[in-house]
Order: sequence, then C-alpha cells, then structure tokens
Amino acid sequence: MGCTRIIALLSQKGGSGKTTVAMQLAAGLSLAGYQVAVADLDPQESALRWADAAAEGVPFPAAVMRLRGSADEMRRSLQAAANRVDFVVLDCPPSIEHLHTASALELCDLALVPVVPSPTDLWATRGMEKLILARMGAQSALRAALLPNRVMRTALAGDVLEVLQDFELPVLAAALSQRSAYAQSAVQGASVYELGRAALPAQEEVDRLVSAVLNQFGE
Ligand SMILES: Nc1ncnc2c1ncn2[C@@H]1O[C@H](COP(=O)(O)OP(=O)(O)O)[C@@H](O)[C@H]1O
Ligand SMILES: [Mg+2]
Repeated sequence: MGCTRIIALLSQKGGSGKTTVAMQLAAGLSLAGYQVAVADLDPQESALRWADAAAEGVPFPAAVMRLRGSADEMRRSLQAAANRVDFVVLDCPPSIEHLHTASALELCDLALVPVVPSPTDLWATRGMEKLILARMGAQSALRAALLPNRVMRTALAGDVLEVLQDFELPVLAAALSQRSAYAQSAVQGASVYELGRAALPAQEEVDRLVSAVLNQFGE
C-alpha cells in the first residue's frame, strides 16, 4: 500500500459522528483530487448503507467497502482492494473493546476522535485517548487528534471545548457544527457538496477539515 494514508475515525460512543465525518471527509478529499476509499469496520454498517442510498442518485464519490478481522487480515484485504488509493478512511465501531477498533488503531496513520461537546462525550473520550496514547507509545509515527462535532454555540459547549484543550491529544484545527445538512446528506447517500448552495456553511467546514487533515500529513 506504499504511500496510501489510512485515517481512522475512532470513538467509544455511538452518535459522536464517526460515520458522518468519515463520509464527509472522504467526499472532501475526493473533491480535492485524491483517490479515496472508505472501509466500514462497524457491524452496524452505516457507511455501507449510506453509499447504498446513493445507488439511485449521484454515486458517492468514494468506494465504500466492508472490512473485517485482525489488523493483518485487514491489511491483506486493503492491499487487494485499495490499490492506488491515496487515502483509506476507516469507519469504526463505537467500542474500545471491539477487535476492529484495535485493528484500526494498529493500521492507521492518523486517528481522529470526533467529540460532541457534552460532558458524557468528554468522559468517554478519556478512555479512547488512553488507548490511542498507549498505541502511540508503540508506534511513534502515529498521529492523532480530537475533532469537535455537532458544535452548538451554547455556554456548555464552550466550556467543554475549553476542557478539550487539557487533553493530551491535540484538537484538530477544524470542527463541524450541528447542521441539518450533515444528517440530510446521509439520507440522500450524498455528501454536503451535493446539497447545493444552502449547504455552503457545511461545505466550508468540510473544506477546513480536509485542509487540517492534509496538514497532518504535511500536505
Ligand atoms: N455535525 C452534525 N450535525 C447534525 N447532525 C449530525 C452531525 N454529526 C452527526 N450527526 C447525526 O448524528 C447521528 C449520529 O451520527 P453518526 O455519524 O452516525 O455517529 P457514529 O457513527 O459515531 O455513531 C446521525 O443521525 C447523524 O446524521
Ligand atoms: Mg457509525
């Protein structure tokens, strides 16, 4: 897989936005001219269903595949399927204990942890952070960052975002707000880029996400 970069969306909580971020990021990278594949590691298969929803409309701009097993098994599957892909985006199950979470962490070059600015998400993030930091001890080239998602302009959200700065993992220089465009694009099997001008603020947020991710790889 030579210079294929693997990005994993990891978090212990369901609903933090792993699938949403994986799909929007894949679409954004693809629009930026990169070859992208999404691998669905979650038994709930939301990313695969997202792409299925596109079957009758505009095809989703990145291939979405099912990926299972140990890190070695995944590596083999990716080698066969993701030939000449610049980025593989891994959409992971909402669990620290799941085998696929361990596999993803072993495979990835960049671990992104979407965090909804709420106290319960904050607590769940501590556990995932610990797991990632332990992995970074073994694999020093691993990059990792927290990504605020579903951000609303409330005092509580502001407080939580401030607390995020105290985590050992850096906070990515991007965030996704709470916007109906993100939920709506899932229903249509599209990304926010296919929703037209009404989704411009969401598109700009995903643009920033793409830049911040490329920046992590020195591009
Ligand atoms: N930034 C956002 N704005 C609005 N809705 C969002 C946003 N991020 C996620 N959602 C919605 O929240 C729900 C859970 O998101 P999802 O990406 O499936 O989380 P996960 O994969 O971590 O379980 C979905 O219905 C999704 O459409
Ligand atoms: Mg999901």
